[in-house]
Amino acid sequence: MEFHQDNVAPSAQFAIAAEARADIPARDALLDRAMGPRWKKKSSEKLRRGRLPAEGLAFVARDAAGAVVGTVRLWDVCAGEKRALLLGPLAVDPAAKSAGIGSALMRHAIGEVTRLGHGAILLVGDAPYYARFGFSAGKTGELAMPGPYERHRFLARELAEGALDGARGTLVATGRRVVRERVRAVA
Ligand SMILES: CC(C)(COP(=O)(O)OP(=O)(O)OC[C@H]1O[C@@H](n2cnc3c(N)ncnc32)[C@H](O)[C@@H]1OP(=O)(O)O)[C@@H](O)C(=O)NCCC(=O)NCCS
Repeated sequence: MEFHQDNVAPSAQFAIAAEARADIPARDALLDRAMGPRWKKKSSEKLRRGRLPAEGLAFVARDAAGAVVGTVRLWDVCAGEKRALLLGPLAVDPAAKSAGIGSALMRHAIGEVTRLGHGAILLVGDAPYYARFGFSAGKTGELAMPGPYERHRFLARELAEGALDGARGTLVATGRRVVRERVRAVA
């Protein structure tokens, strides 16, 4: 596993990896710490609930001890006739903020999305943060989230030029559904 920031204290070292099933409790606890319980109530959550992240597009950042210190996932959605990915939540452990982990997660995610051939990423977030990764509200004017959100925070980046041309309407979740394992009581 390749660690970023080789010449700094071990506490500031981190590596990006695919999220494993075993990471999920630590990831959920990190989201509670970084965002408070509000992350479960966002409009974006309506597009995530009961779905699995897009294939190959859930990542964690681990510190040198292997602890989860950052998370990002992407989700399959339809924007009118157009297919796209919804990114989020992106979060970094408050104790590890401003060490470049959020940026590394974003760059890694965008790289993998491009490699897998997806055309566009949408998200709801702070434009001053996401502008550095090429996101703007320029292509979301005719699109809507399925619930309350602030329009100026609804951002997109095309990976293929024109991927969102003509996209209009409310986003709809299209990802694989979570299949809950049924435990049958044996009489
Ligand atoms: C936003 C977040 C993911 C950034 O992660 P991070 O690892 O601290 O970010 P990086 O180290 O890559 O970048 C730090 C830079 O981003 C800036 N930044 C952080 N949050 C920002 C925001 N909401 N708006 C604008 N700039 C922001 C910092 O000021 C810093 O700027 P500098 O490089 O000029 O010093 C992290 O702070 C976090 O988890 N916040 C709470 C969860 C959240 O709000 N997530 C959604 C973001 S809209």
